Amino acid sequence: RNLKRQMACRSDIDRFNGPFLGVFESLIPSEEEKVKQKQLLTVLEKLVSKEWPDARLYLYGSCANSFGFSKSDIDVCLAIENGNIDKREVLLKLADMLQLDNLQNVQAIIHARVPIVKLMDPVTGISCDICVNNLLAVVNTKLLRDYAQIDVRLRQLAFIVKHWAKSRGVNVTYQGTLSSYAYVLMCIHFLQQRRPAILPCLQRMRTTCFATVDHVECSYFDQVEKLWNFGERNGESVARLVWAFFHYWAYCHDYANDVISVRMGGTLSKRAKDWTRRVGNDRHLICIEDPFEVSHDLGRVVDKYSIRVLREEFERAAEIMQNDPYPFVTLFELY
Ligand code: GTP
Ligand code: MG
Repeated sequence: RNLKRQMACRSDIDRFNGPFLGVFESLIPSEEEKVKQKQLLTVLEKLVSKEWPDARLYLYGSCANSFGFSKSDIDVCLAIENGNIDKREVLLKLADMLQLDNLQNVQAIIHARVPIVKLMDPVTGISCDICVNNLLAVVNTKLLRDYAQIDVRLRQLAFIVKHWAKSRGVNVTYQGTLSSYAYVLMCIHFLQQRRPAILPCLQRMRTTCFATVDHVECSYFDQVEKLWNFGERNGESVARLVWAFFHYWAYCHDYANDVISVRMGGTLSKRAKDWTRRVGNDRHLICIEDPFEVSHDLGRVVDKYSIRVLREEFERAAEIMQNDPYPFVTLFELY
């Protein structure tokens, strides 16, 4: 039904670029916040080294992938070499230590898919989730950060998309909508598809960084400083990219057949991935391949109800970007 509705972009789109950049800038964390995050990490490092002298702490997620908003929580991964540790035991021990060290709201959530300890640091006011040995998340965090360094428009577009998703209530995985990580991958894929391309496909370039994590081979070109002018031949404004992003997901994406793949720099067919039918809880109604765990569909959380919600929101956003006199306001109206 949707493929018919492809349309040309409104002629006045570029005059909204300033206001959209204003939205982006209002969401960026301050230097002061970054300093506080580092402070908290130092506190945690000291504490952890008492019990596990060889362990390391890594920041991952939005506080480290450069797609984090002001005032967001930080995600920390505790990496312990010993292969035989029981993650849950480690987290319970850690929770005890944090409590004794006067960190607030300490809570071990050990039955989740990714078990964590939550805490709040009363000195900086920052909340934090700590997981154990989730090193794939550390590696995909670096991939996202590396992509963000190639062209500023990725960070700008992804901030606007994340802000839209949070405002519209479609960034809640337990309700069947998509994670922030999935939205950023959608933005990277989208910028790889522009002509001329705004982003390259780092995983199809020469390998300069390599790691095997949980039996998954992770390799790509990470000398991104050499790619600083990659997107230069494409002069599209962020407002135009926001328009085209929503237009793509509202009217052009082939939900029935396609999988988007940042790893391949394009789309794959669901048939090739054997993602054509429901297996367990994975329904594959919108397919976003994880760049490293390629059997992993980040759209797996989406069910037959939430796919409708999502698609209606993409259509609403596309409609606003096409016709609304104040798209930089209306797009983010609370649902
Ligand atoms: P906000 O907290 O909403 O600002 O975004 P975030 O970037 O922290 O994203 P999110 O909370 O969705 O995920 C945190 C990190 O966990 C991501 O950056 C990824 O590194 C990792 N992650 C999240 N979901 C998945 C997943 O399904 N698979 C894998 N491999 N990693 C994931
Ligand atoms: Mg997060």
